Amino acid sequence: DASTQDNLKRAVARKAVELVKSGMIVGLGTGSTASMAIEELGKLISQNKVKDVVGVATSYQSRVLARQFGVKTVDLNDVNHIDVAFDGADEVDASMNLIKGGGAAHTMEKVVDSIAKQCVILVDQTKVVPELGLTFPVPVEVLQFALSPVLRALVGLGGVPEIRNALRKDGPVITDLGNMVVDVRFPEGIKNPAELENKINMIPGVIENGLFINIAHKVLVATKDGDETAIV
Ligand code: A5P
Repeated sequence: DASTQDNLKRAVARKAVELVKSGMIVGLGTGSTASMAIEELGKLISQNKVKDVVGVATSYQSRVLARQFGVKTVDLNDVNHIDVAFDGADEVDASMNLIKGGGAAHTMEKVVDSIAKQCVILVDQTKVVPELGLTFPVPVEVLQFALSPVLRALVGLGGVPEIRNALRKDGPVITDLGNMVVDVRFPEGIKNPAELENKINMIPGVIENGLFINIAHKVLVATKDGDETAIV
């Protein structure tokens, strides 16, 4: 249930921030799991367990949470590296390839996660899949001007695209970067995620898609077996 899943996310977030050392520049992912890591990092900072740590936010949400929990943030353009990045994922396969973007933040996440010396993905056991794309669609951030040709091109790649609509607003989701999001289902699953990632990004008007290939260095999975929570 939801509270079990929250406990698993909390456990994995606590474990993850143990990797932060004083002086590090930390990539702050987006979503409910990454939010807990931001909160746990804030605790370490306020308890003086780590010093001189700064964060680089991957969304409006993670920037606001960082401020709320006392994690100082800097602009990506004002640093020359990221030591460690923490982020969630919507699906993870056995090769540590991911689908992200359930919260429409995958473009900034991919920039930050891909340059991190250590990209650490935090998930509970429900996110681990045998093959990407069987249940979760691939989120694609699209320039509004190019929406219609991009939709046709995505169909040409064998996908079933759907414009993501907002939950509490009539009309589409607009990302933090001012673009639209198209969720593309691949009903047969994704046999070659690296190839699909490239093909989608080659479509003019696509900003970035949610396939993260060879970006994660470590995946921490919180599992529950009876009353035992384990991080593997
Ligand atoms: C944000 O756009 C996503 O990439 C999130 O990282 C992903 O959706 C995981 O979010 P949760 O931790 O809330 O499941």
